[in-house]
Amino acid sequence: MNKLIITIDGPSGSGKTTLGRAISKKLDITFFSSGSIYRVITKHFLNTNSLGFENFEIISLEPLEIQIDQHTYFEKDLYTKELNTKSSQLAQQIEIRETVNNILKFVESSAENGLVVEGRDMGSVVFPNATLKIYLDADENIRSTRRIEQSNNQETTEDIFERDRRDITRKNSPLVVPKGAITLKNNTSTVDELVDEVIKNLELQ
Ligand code: DC
Repeated sequence: MNKLIITIDGPSGSGKTTLGRAISKKLDITFFSSGSIYRVITKHFLNTNSLGFENFEIISLEPLEIQIDQHTYFEKDLYTKELNTKSSQLAQQIEIRETVNNILKFVESSAENGLVVEGRDMGSVVFPNATLKIYLDADENIRSTRRIEQSNNQETTEDIFERDRRDITRKNSPLVVPKGAITLKNNTSTVDELVDEVIKNLELQ
C-alpha cells in the first residue's frame, strides 16, 4: 500500500497550518509546513550572506529546530514580518526551490505513518501523486484579518496581498489549484467540520 500523503496548498491566511495539524492529530501522521524551510533558508542567508551550505539537519519536528552548518534555528524565530516578505522573494529562485524540494522528499521518506504537508506547490509539483490534494481558500477579508492577528498587527493588508501576488504570479511553481485537488473554503467552517470533510474525501480515494 502506498504511503498516505495529504497535501494542502493555498494562499496565506487560509488556515493551512491549523487544518494540517488537526488532520495530523486525527490520523496520527506527521505534519510539516514547507514554508518553514523557505523561512529557515532565508534566515540563514540573512545571517551569513550566503545561500550555500554543507549540512542541513532537522533536529526536531515539533517544535521545529533546524541546524544549518554550525547555526541552529528555532521555529519561534521564523515567523517575523521580515521573513514573511524575504522568504517569499527568495522562493522565486529555482535553485532554492530544488533545495527545499529535496529536503521535503527526505521529510516524506522519514514520515513512516504518513504525512500531511502544506505550502504553495505541494500537490502541483512536489507530491503530484499524493493520496489526497486539498486546495484551501478563504475570502480575502477573512484571510487578511487572520494574518494581521497572527502577526500581532505587524503585517498590513497590503503586505499580505503583495506576498500572495508574488506567490501566485511567479514563474517557478506558482500557487495554483493542483490537478485533482478538492477545494475547501475556510470562511465560517470549524476545524472539526473541515477535518470531517477531509476524512470523507479520503474514504472516497
Ligand atoms: O507558508 P509560509 O507563509 O510559511 O511560506 C513563506 C513563503 O515561502 C511564502 O510566502 C512563499 C514561500 N513558499 C513557497 O514558495 N512554496 C511553498 N510550498 C511554501 C512556501
